Order: sequence, then C-alpha cells, then structure tokens
Amino acid sequence: MFDHPQFDAHESVTHLHDRASGLNAIIAVHSTHRGPAAGGCRHWRYATPDAALADALRLSRGMSLKNAMAGLPMGGGKAVILAPAGGKQDGQIAALGRAIDAMGGRYVTAEDVGMTPADMAALGRQTPHVAGLPAASGDATGSPSPATADGVLAGLRAVAAAALGRDGLSGVHVALQGVGAVGGRLARLLHAEGARLTLADLDPARADTLAHELGAATAGAEEILAVPADIVAPNALGAVLNARTIPALRCAAVAGAANNQLETPADGERLARRGILYAPDFIINAGGIIHVTARYLGDAAPEHIQSQVAAIGRRLTHVFEAARDERRRPEQVAEAMALRLIGR
Ligand code: NAI
Repeated sequence: MFDHPQFDAHESVTHLHDRASGLNAIIAVHSTHRGPAAGGCRHWRYATPDAALADALRLSRGMSLKNAMAGLPMGGGKAVILAPAGGKQDGQIAALGRAIDAMGGRYVTAEDVGMTPADMAALGRQTPHVAGLPAASGDATGSPSPATADGVLAGLRAVAAAALGRDGLSGVHVALQGVGAVGGRLARLLHAEGARLTLADLDPARADTLAHELGAATAGAEEILAVPADIVAPNALGAVLNARTIPALRCAAVAGAANNQLETPADGERLARRGILYAPDFIINAGGIIHVTARYLGDAAPEHIQSQVAAIGRRLTHVFEAARDERRRPEQVAEAMALRLIGR
C-alpha cells in the first residue's frame, strides 16, 4: 500500500471485512490536519480490490483539498464498499456503520454514488458520525444538491468577471451539460440572473421540459461541449475535458459541478493553451459538503451556510488572480493553496 501510485501519506487506510454479512470495505483517512476526515461513502462494483483501494486513496485526498479550500474545519476521507455480486445487504451497511463508529469521529461519512438516503439512515442508526441525514438536517431531503448549485452560481459570477470582464451573468451564454439535481437548479438560478442558456441531458425529455419552462435552447448530449457559448458548465460526468473534447470547445471558460472534470493533468495544460479559463472543480462544487458538514457541526443557520457558499466566488477570484500573477494554471494554484492549508 505504501508504494501504491495513489498513496499520498494517508494517515490511515482501514480494510474492513465482516464475516457475518460479507462486507468488504475500505476507509481511507487522508488528513485530519484541519479536523475530522469528512467524505462520502461510495458503493461500487469494482473490477478488482486494487481498483477500490485506488479510488479510496484518490478520493480521500481530493476531499482533503476540497474541504480545505471550502474553509471547513474538516480533513479528508472516503469510504468505499466493494459491492458484492448479490447486491446490497442491510447487514453490510450496519457493519460499516459500526466500524465508522469505532473510529470515534476521526472519519465522518456522507452520501456518495451508490448509497441511498435509506442506506445513510441505516448508517446513522449505528453511529452519529454521518453528515447529511434528513432527520438531522431539518429539511425535507438533506440533499446537498441545492447548496452545490448555489455554490456553482457564485463561482460562475467570478468566472464571468475573470474570463469575460462581466459584472454579473445577465446576457452571458452558459451551455449546461446535465440538468439533474444540480444542473437543473443551476439552470433556474442562471435564468433568474438573465443568463442565456443552452441545455443538454442524456435524458432529452429532461432537457426539453426545462428548456420549455425557461425559454432556453437545447443541444444533443454529444454536441453540448462544442456549442459556441461564453461558459460551458459540466454537471454530469467526470473526465469530460480530454484530448478529444478540448479541441472542439468554443467557449471562454469551463466551470461546473462535475467532479474530476480533467481526465488527466495534461488536459489542464490543453485548456490553458487554448486560452480557456478553468474553474477547479473541487473549489466550485463545494457547496454540498459545506451544507452537510455545517449541519453535522451543529451550525446549520441558513445565513451561516449561505455566507460560506458565497465565499466560493471570492475564493475562485483569488485563485484566478494568483494564477495570472504567477503564470500558472488555476488548478495548479488551487492545489498548492489547498496543500498549504493541510500542512503539506
Ligand atoms: P444527477 O444524477 O442528479 O444529474 C446528472 C444529470 O446528468 C442527469 O440528468 C443525467 O441524465 C445527465 N447526464 C449523464 N450523462 C450525461 C451526458 N453524457 N451528457 C449530458 N447529460 C448527462 O447528479 P447531480 O447530483 O446533479 O450531480 C451532477 C455532477 O455534480 C456529478 O458529477 C456529481 O458528482 C457532481 N457533484 C454533485 C454534488 C451534489 O451535491 N449533488 C456535489 C459535488 C459534485
């Protein structure tokens, strides 16, 4: 493990096996420098155990950077459950909950891919170290998505200023890839600010319905990244910025909620060479983790959460200015800032 390519001085990596339920899981704690390691729990059919370890190592490091740049008193961690062929079992979720509880708060979990609100509630019956539970959050769903969209909107204002010299989003043309939980709300918020929208979704009916409501244009899921627009906002999948898609972009900036938008570090360089401003995803999409951890930390006043989410815009502006001054790319500057914040 210590020579694993994704190992980055992680503080602990726990391999869990529960004989009774057959649970196989990994909890990676990358850093507790700023506080308890927070990061979601993912339930996934990994091709190999090593793929699960790589995911846990990579994602927990990403959470350290994201939480630090969001100004949260939290470190970075991640849990992954190696999904068994027979599907999810309640006993496994309970066993993971007991293991998280035994960590005494060093790791705080939250919902991620493959976990449902019911699974999170099952974890919450075993341990208090679960963020984003509906019951504790005081709202109907506990969903982080609205806060994520609010944070992306704040980020897009900063992007419009830095890339287009615009004060506000009125008249700015944004092409949205994916109008699900985050992208759908973002589209409505942008519409309210007077932005011009082109929408695309793998589910064309979803894009069509929303476009009809907002008077927006639509494009096919295959073409949205190449639509001529001021800003392209990826809100669907990771790795959408790559050697194939970047040459086709016709925008001044890329900024959206999707995690891990750059397929490789070289793709950041490709964007920069084309003069396209990139908003580091782990800064702009932090609204959700701000929302769920605020509630976990017991300061869920809406004003408190809103001010932290709004700070995403100021943080991006700071990163863009530093990148310009230092002649480096925004994601390089952001990573260096985050590493300083976690004492690395
Ligand atoms: P979602 O599943 O509600 O929405 C994703 C939408 O993208 C769906 O409507 C889907 O049909 C569409 N889609 C999938 N592939 C597509 C493609 N190739 N082209 C166009 N549309 C496509 O997911 P959600 O919650 O809105 O998250 C969106 C992205 O933001 C994900 O990458 C997620 O990891 C990231 N994110 C979400 C956060 C949250 O609070 N929900 C927090 C941080 C990141």
